[in-house]
Amino acid sequence: MTGEDRCPAVEVLDGTSPKLSLKREVGLVGAVSLVAGTMIGSGIFMSPQFVLVNIGSPGGSLVVWAACGLLAVLGSLCYAELGTVIRESGGEYIYILRTSGPVLAFILIFSSVIFVRPASVAGISLSFAEYALAPFYQDCPCPQLLVKCVAAAGIVVTAIVNCLNVRFAMSMQVFFMVAKVLALSVIIIGGVVLLVRGETESFEDSFNGTNLGINPIGIAFYQGLWSYDGWNNLNYVTEELKRPKVNLPRAVMIAIPMVTMLYLLVNVSYLAAMTPRELMLSSAVAVTWGNKVLGSWGWVMSIAAALSAFGSLNGTFFSGGRVCFVAAREGHMPDILAMAHVNRLTPSPALIFTTAISLLVLIPGDFQSIVNFFSFTAWFFYTITLSGLLYLKIKKPELPRTYSVPIVIPILVIMAAIFLVMAPIIDNPAIEYLYVTIFIFSGVLVYVPFIHYKLCPGLLEKVTVFLQLFLEVAPADKNI
Ligand code: ARG
Repeated sequence: MTGEDRCPAVEVLDGTSPKLSLKREVGLVGAVSLVAGTMIGSGIFMSPQFVLVNIGSPGGSLVVWAACGLLAVLGSLCYAELGTVIRESGGEYIYILRTSGPVLAFILIFSSVIFVRPASVAGISLSFAEYALAPFYQDCPCPQLLVKCVAAAGIVVTAIVNCLNVRFAMSMQVFFMVAKVLALSVIIIGGVVLLVRGETESFEDSFNGTNLGINPIGIAFYQGLWSYDGWNNLNYVTEELKRPKVNLPRAVMIAIPMVTMLYLLVNVSYLAAMTPRELMLSSAVAVTWGNKVLGSWGWVMSIAAALSAFGSLNGTFFSGGRVCFVAAREGHMPDILAMAHVNRLTPSPALIFTTAISLLVLIPGDFQSIVNFFSFTAWFFYTITLSGLLYLKIKKPELPRTYSVPIVIPILVIMAAIFLVMAPIIDNPAIEYLYVTIFIFSGVLVYVPFIHYKLCPGLLEKVTVFLQLFLEVAPADKNI
């Protein structure tokens, strides 16, 4: 083969060409859309009734939504400090690796790759499919098989876009964010009109019936926090951010308070249009709201909710592929997952891997259980990550920080996170949470032989070389 017709992947492979690196493509607007556009997805159209069912009263449910927003704001301030001290991409994984060591980091990446990320992709795609199909099944429930097929199609399309072009994936993110902010604004304006007309029954005696059990409060929070999840999204892509020291804290301080306000007002609007009972019984709140307030235009809300979920799916893919990619770079995942396409510079192997597992999780999964197990596992790891921040603040105050959060904030968030992780176990322990916990720690069984003792070192080599040529990918370098 002559030098000219050699595939660039081969050149990088045999050391005749330098390593590739991902580009810094994400500016402030992109960053805000990456956070807000991932946060606003399925939850605000699916979870309000589950929050209400668990907490028992409209007043209680608004308090839960506000408290979840506060937790997301405080959590993201802590992550902003982490992101400016540890400048690598990879979110919780890289922070745990640098503060608590490789075993815990591996446990995180193992659960994250095999369950947490695919579960979030599957959960969001289910909501996308439910809403996309809702206009065609006004009077009867959608067949589950069809819902899952449409969800799978949504996952595959998003994966393809993300494999092809970072810039296009980013533009899509901005477009969908604008679309969903508009959709939520329509709901809010509709709510204001209803309130002005005096439709305020849901708010009379609004705390009557509030459920104060630890378990229902915890589950209500899990459902609310699902809607806010994505607040930490930028920390997965720090290396692709333009001016991360400035843009990271700035983007979260714009995006998260904005989303919190939108969510609160949308919930008020749902309650203005429906009685709490109607809200609890509705199968898709945005459709019920649309039918009541917009009449024959009600279907518009289903389309808006489907688009919203699709945008969030895109953001989840964008950052999810990156985590896998960073872990592979650190030797905690097969090498092939750390490579990027030689021309497009997208981490396509990691994206393809996430897609495959997400499709598997989709087969047995249903929205509500996916969300509860997701939130349990996610908050378990957020707690460990924030403890790492406390460690850095106390033991390494000399590290350069462009942004520093007052120490009481991580302490408060850690206390709330411990409550959240314990809540479904304390009051009324469900055996599934034990299985999830066992699963989380089963990562150690893979870590000890394959990572620590490096058993079977050449196992994946041939497959890696084959896939590398087939997918035209090459190792990518850090970009810090
Ligand atoms: N908040 C999103 C929604 O309501 C879910 C985000 C899942 N998590 C994530 N990191 N992408 O659909």
